[in-house]
Amino acid sequence: MYICSCNPFTDKDLDKALKNEAVKKKTSDIYKACTGGEKPCCGSCICEVRDRINAHNEEITAMAAE
Ligand code: FES
Repeated sequence: MYICSCNPFTDKDLDKALKNEAVKKKTSDIYKACTGGEKPCCGSCICEVRDRINAHNEEITAMAAE
């Protein structure tokens, strides 16, 4: 499923970018990894991307606390 249609990348691309290192990520990290450095255009995908980044970062925080 496409997450971003302006700089097309899918949910699989996003998951791959999130899980390539077990470190907290920022929105810019994800766009850089998924689009080759393009910046968001319309912003329609930002909420979905941020939700997934937040879930990933919470997972990293939980793993660090164990
Ligand atoms: S849908 Fe991602 S920037 Fe427009």
